[in-house]
Amino acid sequence: MIRQIVQIGNPALRQIADAVKESEVASTEIQNLIDDLIETMRSANGAGLAATQIAAPYRICVIEVNKNPRYPYKPDIPLTVLINPKVTFLTEERINVYEGCLSVPNLRGKVDRCPEILIEGLDRDGQILSFVAKGISAGTFQHELDHLDGLVFTDRMKDASSLTTIDEFAANHEEEFKQQVINIVKNYGS
Ligand code: NI
Repeated sequence: MIRQIVQIGNPALRQIADAVKESEVASTEIQNLIDDLIETMRSANGAGLAATQIAAPYRICVIEVNKNPRYPYKPDIPLTVLINPKVTFLTEERINVYEGCLSVPNLRGKVDRCPEILIEGLDRDGQILSFVAKGISAGTFQHELDHLDGLVFTDRMKDASSLTTIDEFAANHEEEFKQQVINIVKNYGS
């Protein structure tokens, strides 16, 4: 079922989500929630969606990038369902990249992200997941994990002057950002 995505200002977006008990992962409630997250993300052309964005207070998020029209420069990421994810930064380096969010309509802004991270959690079958994400894709994972702690990308901006509407981004910043992304992909592989 396609669910309504709550927008910035809605208290649900600011909730710190609860961990899912391992014994609950296979439940109909959690499995239906995961299906709804995937369907809602795809219908909105999102690169990811966290449960807090549909006002469900669980530590679950989904990520998928497949030639995304909202973010044509993003490297592809296969569909990934993360339950109770944890992130570990593997480098002191940071990249400063534009992000957008389905809960912050019509805006993009630059955020510092760690370009090499370890993600650990469970998949939708309750199996342990552990993988390294790099570059732009690492930023996408950090963005979704932030939602589970009630954070949106604007909270991470050190300088609000990079905030831009999507039209102004396309007109004034997208070309330069595409070049930056090409360099990040060259340096980090994704
Ligand atoms: Ni978001």
